[in-house]
Amino acid sequence: MPGNLYDALRESHEVQRSLLRKLLRSKAGTQDRIGLLTQVRIELEAHEAAEERFLYVPMLMDDSGLLPSRHALHEHHQIDELVEDLRKLDPRNGAWLDKAKELSHKVHHHLREEEKKFFQASGKLLSDTLKAKLATGYRKDYARMHKKLSAA
Ligand SMILES: [Fe+2]
Ligand SMILES: [Fe+2]
Repeated sequence: MPGNLYDALRESHEVQRSLLRKLLRSKAGTQDRIGLLTQVRIELEAHEAAEERFLYVPMLMDDSGLLPSRHALHEHHQIDELVEDLRKLDPRNGAWLDKAKELSHKVHHHLREEEKKFFQASGKLLSDTLKAKLATGYRKDYARMHKKLSAA
């Protein structure tokens, strides 16, 4: 599939926003809530892996890309930990909803920062030819990770 690297990343971000909205609206203790949390986890993990490999690795190779990349990878780790915390909580409890809101807040902050700052920063560092290659690489790896995580 042709297309721009940032379009591909933004498409995934929209999927995350929509799933998080559904997660926060899900009814306490339902299968729907549990299923949505699985979908959110898979979506976040697949996106993070492919984004780290096809956006942040090339960014890290440039001196000026070090700080934004480190910051973003640290946030990916914090998001993963929030998902793990949430999986340990009882989906019938208020504490579950509080943690889900914390996760949603963190993810929204992260996506906004990427879209407003890091995509522009990387746009200046990477050539158009490389960006086209990275877009294809991102889409392939995201689909592969999705499949792998869904089968696990
Ligand atoms: Fe990210
Ligand atoms: Fe992202």
